[in-house]
Amino acid sequence: MAEIIDTGREPDRAIERACAVLAKGEPVAIPTETVYGLAADATNPDAISRIYEMKGRPRFNPLISHVSDMAMAEAHVRFDPISRRLAETFWPGPLTLILPQRPDSSVHALASAGLDTLGIRMPDGFSRRVIARFGRPLAAPSANTSGKISPTSAVHVDADLGEKLKLILDAGPAEIGLESTIIKVDGDEIRLLRPGGLDAAEIERLLDRPVIRPETAGATIEAPGMLASHYAPGAAVRLDVADVRAGEALIRFGGGRIAGEEQAAIVLDLSPTGNLHEAAANLFDYMKRADASGAATIAFGPIPSEGLGEAIIDRLQRAAAPRG
Ligand code: TXA
Ligand code: MG
Repeated sequence: MAEIIDTGREPDRAIERACAVLAKGEPVAIPTETVYGLAADATNPDAISRIYEMKGRPRFNPLISHVSDMAMAEAHVRFDPISRRLAETFWPGPLTLILPQRPDSSVHALASAGLDTLGIRMPDGFSRRVIARFGRPLAAPSANTSGKISPTSAVHVDADLGEKLKLILDAGPAEIGLESTIIKVDGDEIRLLRPGGLDAAEIERLLDRPVIRPETAGATIEAPGMLASHYAPGAAVRLDVADVRAGEALIRFGGGRIAGEEQAAIVLDLSPTGNLHEAAANLFDYMKRADASGAATIAFGPIPSEGLGEAIIDRLQRAAAPRG
C-alpha cells in the first residue's frame, strides 16, 4: 500500500520522504504538469530496472530524464542552438528534447535503452522541486501499467500501481493532462516525434519554420514508445461518431448533442465551451470514467484537429488501434 502525501499541505515532508525513498533506489510517483510520473534515480540501474518491472514496460523503450534547471541539463546532453532556444522558451514545460548524451553523463544506459541520445525535459510543478532537492536527474515514464492510459491524478496512480509503490505525491489534477511534446532537431529539420501538451504550432511560430510531423518523418518508429496500440482503455473505442448506439459510453466535445445520446450509458463532454486545453486536461480522466461505467464501447464525438487537438486525436487513434 502506497503512502500518499498531499504536496499542498505538507510540501516539506513530501520532498524529504520522496528524496529518502529515491535515495534507496525505489521509484516514487510524482506530479508533473503533464501527467503523473513514475520517477527513479536516473543514474542508478537498479532503480531504473524497478520502473520497467513495475510498469511491465519493454526495455527497448527509453525513459525521459527530468532535470530541475539548465545546469543539470547541460551536464548530461549537448544542445544545438535550435534546441537551446526551445528549452529557453518552453522550459519548465511540456516539451521533451532528444539530444546527444555527453560521454561523461552519469545517466545510466538503461534509462536511454542504450541509445546515444537522451530524452530530456524540465517539468513544471512540484516534481521540479523534488528533482532540485534530489540533485540528480529522475528517469520517469508516466505512472501507469505499460499500454494503459496515463494518470492525471494521484487516485489514478493509486488504483493502478498503489500496491507496488511506497510513495505517491498528490498535487491534485495535472494541469495539462497530456504527455509532453517530443522534438528532435536533426540538422535543420525540426521533427515532431510525439504530439503532446505543447502545441507544435507554437514552436513553428517561435522559429518561423515548419515542424515535420511523424507521418512524414519516415517509416521507422523514432520514439520507440510510439507503438500503435497504447493508451488503451478496457473498452473498445469508436472515433468520430455521428450517432451513438445503445449502451455505449459517449465522450463528446464542444457541447453539441450527438444523435442517439439518450441511449448512452454515460455522456461526458471534454469541454462544453469548446476549449481544447480544458479537453486535454479532462481526456484521460474521462476515458477512465467511461471505462468504469462498464460500457463495452466508448464512442467519441468529433474533435477539431488544430492546436492541442492534434495530440488529443493522436491519443484517441492509439486507444482505438487493434490491441497487440
Ligand atoms: O509528459 C511526459 O512526457 C511524461 C511525464 C512523466 O514527464 N512522461 C512520459 O514518458 O510520457 P513515457 O515514458 O510514457 O514516454 C516517453 C517517450 C517514449 O515514447 C520514448 O520512446 C520516448 O519518449 N523517448 C525517450 N527517450 C528517447 C530517445 N532517446 N530517443 C527517442 N525517443 C525517446
Ligand atoms: Mg506512457
